[in-house]
Parts: sequence; structure tokens; C-alpha cells
Amino acid sequence: MTTEETKHRVLTGDTPTGRLHLGHWVGSVEKRVQMQGDYDCYFLLANMHAFTTRATEPEEIRADTIEIVKDWLAAGIDPERSTIVLQTEVPAIAELSWYFAMLIPFNRIMRNPTLKTEIETKGLGDTYPFGFPMYAVGQCADILAFRPKYVPVGVDQVAHIEVCREVARKFDQVYSGVDPQAEDADYASLGGTFPIPEALVGRVGRLVGTDGDNKMSKSLNNAVFLSDTPKQVKKKINSMYPGQSREPDQPGDPDINPVFMYAETFCDAGLVEEMKDRYRKGDNIGDGHVKAAVIESVNELLEPMRERRTAFDGPEGEKKIIEIIRDGTARANVVAEETLHMAKDAMKLDFGKRSLGWT
Ligand code: TRP
Repeated sequence: MTTEETKHRVLTGDTPTGRLHLGHWVGSVEKRVQMQGDYDCYFLLANMHAFTTRATEPEEIRADTIEIVKDWLAAGIDPERSTIVLQTEVPAIAELSWYFAMLIPFNRIMRNPTLKTEIETKGLGDTYPFGFPMYAVGQCADILAFRPKYVPVGVDQVAHIEVCREVARKFDQVYSGVDPQAEDADYASLGGTFPIPEALVGRVGRLVGTDGDNKMSKSLNNAVFLSDTPKQVKKKINSMYPGQSREPDQPGDPDINPVFMYAETFCDAGLVEEMKDRYRKGDNIGDGHVKAAVIESVNELLEPMRERRTAFDGPEGEKKIIEIIRDGTARANVVAEETLHMAKDAMKLDFGKRSLGWT
């Protein structure tokens, strides 16, 4: 039997940058919702990371933080079963970040392809703050503070998890006496402070946007949001270019049609096969038909989310969200403080324990 104590832990998080979209859902959020029953789950609001590129926008970051919790709750994250954690109120994360920063070469962080891509796509040039690359070290602390077994993430985050695994191995080797030849799975049983966590990528690593070219992303204006109304969903899907110009009775290629990528992701597999077959043959199937099927399935997915969301609307809703954040963060601090003390003991920083006094 599994109890809270014996369940493996899972940690993942989002930087509050706006609303969640379908790409987040298939890349990671869906998996989180499924994992809640079997794992002790921690979902982190990486609000400190939001300051790495928007330090001048505190109000926006606060609003985005509330909004993302609303999205999580609407999506089916259950605060009774899972723990929602506010990064800035878990001091152990900030402390661990410092120690971990000593264990990873600066150039290794700067070689991280996810950081490099972000610098390019966000146009950060060479004037980004020191804290920007620092977030990659901070992310190691976000994760390891909870000593999780799994980290469910989108494919773009795998490079960060790899850095985290390197830091965990290094810490365990240097401070907990684990043999560098040890297998990752054995670190914990060999006395390591940190088990080596594993990334779990969702069923669709990269969902194309409604422009049919780029990854779905709020900043590219090609996203279907989890909070979109049925009308908005319809409008966005109907505006998609099907990758080719054809009539319903002309043969087409479903493999170059982004609407079919959505069909494969959101519609019943049998229906998709049938539509593809007819599309290839030009068997009286227009693009509107495929779009209508996608619109229906996406709205079916989003409808229960829309309903759950209404419980958190308005100022009363915000109050409830803040309560949920506080409850979760209090629970999270128990675990993170325990980890911090284990790490500091291993580092011979064993000069006594503090009590957090969280209220
Ligand atoms: N960097 C992640 C993102 O932008 C968010 C994040 C912060 C995270 N800390 C984390 C994800 C720890 C997984 C684990 O999406």
C-alpha cells in the first residue's frame, strides 16, 4: 500500500509568464494531473525566475502568478492531493542555489542550449542580468530541495534537468562520499543526499502553434489558451492554413497539414485514421470538416476546465488562490528545510538548526 510517506515525490514548475495553452497541456500539465494519484506531487510557481527578464514588472508578475494557479486548478490540479509551492517563500531554495553554484562550471551553464535559445528568441542580446543564467542553477535547487524521483517537463526543459542531475551527482560525490562510478539509480542507497532525478516528457514534446510553423507560444500569438472560450477556440482553429490548397474531392497530404497534427493530439485515433484516409483519397472531405472535428475535441477537453475556473473568479477567487498557495508553501517548507539541513550537515555546516517561523 502506498501512503504519503512511501509515495515517490514529483516536482515540476512553471515560470508565471501568462496563461497556459494547449502546448503546456500536452507537454506537461496533463501528465501532472495524471500523476497526482500515485505520487506525492509538488508544483512550483517559479515567480523568482519571472524577475530574471521582467525585474521592472512586479505587478504583472504578481498577476501572472495568480493566473497560473487558476490555470492549474482549472486543469485539474487538486490542492488537496498536490502541493502548490511559491518559490519566493521557500528560502531553502535560494540557499541551496548558492551552494550548487559552486559545483557547476560557469561555462557549463552558458553552454545550456535552452538558455542560448531563450537569449536569442527573447532578444536578450548581451545585456541580460547576471540573474538570468543564474536561474539555471536556481532550477537545480527548485528540484533538489524536494528530492524528487521524477520531473515532468516539456522537451525544452530537458537540458535544465540534465544540469540538475550533474549537480546532484557532484554534491553526492563531494559531500556524501558516493563513488563517481556509481549508477544513477544507486546514489540514494549509497548514502547520497540527493537521489538523481529523472525528466519525464509529456506525450507531445512540441505542439505546433496555430500558425502551423512555430512552437505554440503566447509571445508568438499562435496559442490556444486553456482559458479560451468556445468561440475563441473555433476562430483560432478555423484560421489555420491547412498547408496546401485543395478542394474536398482532390487528394491531399495530411502529413503536411498542421490541423491534422491537432487532430492526432486531441481527437479519437479511429476518427483521425478515417479522416486521413479520406483526405489522401480526396473522398469528399474539406478542411472545414477536419477543423470542426478538432474544434469539437478541444472544446470537450476545455469545457470542464472552464467550469472549474469559475470557482476562482474575481476577488473572492483570488483570496482562495492565495490560501491555497500559503497552505502548499507551508507544507513545502517542511520538506525543503529538511533537505537543506541534510545538505548543510553533509557540507559540515552543522552549526545548529533554525526554525522558519512561517505563519
Ligand atoms: N524553467 C521552467 C520553465 O520555464 C520553470 C521551472 C522553474 C521548473 N523551476 C523548475 C520546471 C523546476 C521544472 C522543475 O518552464
